[in-house]
Amino acid sequence: MTAPAGPSSPVLSRRDALRATGATVAAATALGMRGVHADNPSGDVLKIGLIGAGGRGRGALVQTLSVPGSNVKLTAIADAFKGGIDGTMRAVEGMQEKIDCPEDRRYEGLDGYQRVIEACDLVILATPPGFRPMHFQAAVAAGKHVFMEKPVCVDSYGARLVLEAARQADEKKLKVVVGLQRRYQTNYREALAKVREGLIGDIIGGQVYWNGSGIWYRNRQPNTTEMQFQVNNWYHFNWLCGDHIAEQHVHNIDVANWFLDRLPESAYGVGGRQNRVESQPSEIYDHHAVNFTYPGGVRIASQCKQFPGGDGRVDEEFQGSKGVLRLHPGFAQITDHSGKELWKFSGENPDPYQVEHDELHAAIRNDTPKNDAYYGATSSFSSVLGRLATYSGKTWDYQKALDLDYRTMPENPSWETVPPVVPDKDGNYPLPMPQTFKITSVTTPAVS
Ligand SMILES: NC(=O)c1ccc[n+]([C@@H]2O[C@H](COP(=O)([O-])OP(=O)(O)OC[C@H]3O[C@@H](n4cnc5c(N)ncnc54)[C@H](O)[C@@H]3O)[C@@H](O)[C@H]2O)c1
Repeated sequence: MTAPAGPSSPVLSRRDALRATGATVAAATALGMRGVHADNPSGDVLKIGLIGAGGRGRGALVQTLSVPGSNVKLTAIADAFKGGIDGTMRAVEGMQEKIDCPEDRRYEGLDGYQRVIEACDLVILATPPGFRPMHFQAAVAAGKHVFMEKPVCVDSYGARLVLEAARQADEKKLKVVVGLQRRYQTNYREALAKVREGLIGDIIGGQVYWNGSGIWYRNRQPNTTEMQFQVNNWYHFNWLCGDHIAEQHVHNIDVANWFLDRLPESAYGVGGRQNRVESQPSEIYDHHAVNFTYPGGVRIASQCKQFPGGDGRVDEEFQGSKGVLRLHPGFAQITDHSGKELWKFSGENPDPYQVEHDELHAAIRNDTPKNDAYYGATSSFSSVLGRLATYSGKTWDYQKALDLDYRTMPENPSWETVPPVVPDKDGNYPLPMPQTFKITSVTTPAVS
């Protein structure tokens, strides 16, 4: 890996990052047949690589192979475990004319990503998010277009790495889409247009929620190392998943940043674990509640939970000086403060997971600007900021947190690496507690 952008490096500030993001809603243009390779605009087959062949990687692969009119071939695939590769090859069995991925371009383990990047024009990054900054940086260094799943980082170091690689992607005219699919959903885009027209006035405050029931647990298998257990059961380890405030709730926090067109200045919150199953040792909380403060004094209250019972809620609401906007993936409505409806979304809402790939291919073919990595990084880091607040019980400033020497992913991880967190004699992992929480980096001693 190249040297990271350190705390004193000239990394992008919040405002630079927002400016660089520019307009995020690009109309899909008709597919032409140029610009496939950043360095070879005349090429026409778009070679696809997949890194992280689990549930979402498989879905994204099928979507990218299904872009109408796009000449594509899967050429290489990597997964930590053979099961992911085999399952994915089975999932695309019916698309043989789009598959050119022999056994010797199927890589098992943690270092296959480099080989996949070499073998493709467009790479899908869908491993657990802890690996994302390292994989994104490698893809950009190699001059490849990228579709990457959210979140795109789980700590300060990773956020800086992605922001710096985003800048390099622009220089190389690479195209990048991030799987924050609300940005590709027609009801969200139309609602945003109404907000920008002034239908709810100035946004004064809002609430964003991902309150669900639970998450899977993958039990320890015989004859596996601690590293293999954690990578397989990645949702329960912060260095791999960033806790569920980053892993899932990033979608809603991103909507707040997007609609406000600002990034939070600070976060303050509480969280904990009250319902995780005792026989399933885990390092993450099962609930977080955070107040984000934005420039202009706007407050967004965020909640996420992962335990059964109570009302489930995954949506966003913004109060403005003239009205209120309510949003969720199938719905968008604006009322005035008396409850009278001013607007309601009623159009077609095509599958945003497909639209992401349609628009990515169009940008590649037509060489039009497309780089979601800035907002991918700043929204992912906003959710990390929320986690810092709930783990520490303290108010965290966005820019100070971004500049921290806070790195959770070991350099060059392999199956021999000792994970950053190991179980105690009873098999349990330490739970972050405000009284004892410290920012630590896997490569340096604690700094605060
Ligand atoms: N946008 C969405 O709505 C959405 C939905 C689901 C998942 N996701 C995101 O997709 C990512 C993957 O989630 P998933 O549900 O597919 O998980 P998953 O566990 O099903 O798949 C992850 C795969 O990555 C593999 N892997 C782990 N480390 C690897 C490495 N270093 N190199 C190569 N392969 C590695 C695992 O073996 C596994 O097959 C996550 O970031 C998640 O947040 C996004």
